[in-house]
Amino acid sequence: MASRVRLATLPTALEACPGLGAAIGAPGLLTKRDDLAGAEYGGNKVRKLEYLLGDALDRGCDAVVTFGAAGSNHALATAIYARQVGLTCWAVLTDQVETPWVANTLRWHGLLGTRLLHGTGFAATGLAAERLRASHPAGPQALYEVPWGGSSPQGSLGFVDAGTELATQLAAAGLTAPVRVYLPCGTMGSVAGLLAGLGRAGVAATVVSVKVVPQNVVDAAAVLQLTRETERLLPPPALTSGKRHRASLEFRPEFAGEGYALPTPEAREALALARDLAGFSLDTTYSGKALACLISDARTGRLEGHIPVFWQTWNSRPYPAELAAVDTTRLPAEFQKFFA
Ligand SMILES: Cc1ncc(COP(=O)(O)O)c(C=O)c1O
Repeated sequence: MASRVRLATLPTALEACPGLGAAIGAPGLLTKRDDLAGAEYGGNKVRKLEYLLGDALDRGCDAVVTFGAAGSNHALATAIYARQVGLTCWAVLTDQVETPWVANTLRWHGLLGTRLLHGTGFAATGLAAERLRASHPAGPQALYEVPWGGSSPQGSLGFVDAGTELATQLAAAGLTAPVRVYLPCGTMGSVAGLLAGLGRAGVAATVVSVKVVPQNVVDAAAVLQLTRETERLLPPPALTSGKRHRASLEFRPEFAGEGYALPTPEAREALALARDLAGFSLDTTYSGKALACLISDARTGRLEGHIPVFWQTWNSRPYPAELAAVDTTRLPAEFQKFFA
């Protein structure tokens, strides 16, 4: 049985979005409010961290190390929740293009006391973690490695629960038409877990995985592989006599634009529509690209006969007021450019 530490505020609401739905031609549009999935910090990472940090505590670790780009929501969420459960957090962060969110993400690390290191590229971040492990005061086994984006079979278990949660909410609302669930795909753990969870719940669902990173290794085959690995951690599904459906994956690479964190015109339009017609704020790196895909599908008639669900993966809890007072000159030199 996988260890889990309770961090998230669950279930997150499944809400109607009539104004936005009507404007884009997606009547019945629903939004899954994972932006409020945690009291201190929301977004899609909290569900994964319940299982990852639960595993770290179970193994008797006293610290975690994780990875991401300088403005990584995942690295920030890991730092916040590791601290909450008494674990020291190291984060090895790489360069990225500047976005309006990077500087405050780094400031928040400053406030939390995250031990930040800079790494150039994937291999260098791995080496940095190896070095940390080798010199860890309590021994190498006491430093738990949280993978990029929190994506591993263990982390995806959080999104298996999310699939069950959505299935329960749809049933309670009497919604039985096939659903199309849209969410961004970066390190694949959210999509993979959701696919497993909706599949086990027997919901007629298409998980629309909107690719937001340039890496070729992020593709449909890799998502399905992670789904299978996640399913291996689960007990066998209960046998039921009723009609069951399979959840299927639709992998959509065409909204990624020129690269990671580079905004597209479609994502900018999605941000403006979400703000003006639904009152929620999105980002152009992840959530805006996923909503752009949903909007495009609505306009081209692909949603007909389906219930569209937009999964909000981007945190909407406010950043702490104390960020303004953080002494950013104490952060590693490589990150100073974000404060220039
Ligand atoms: C706001 C946001 N949405 C979506 C994702 C992508 O989720 P995953 O890495 O599980 O594919 C991330 C991951 O970094 C994220 O920060």
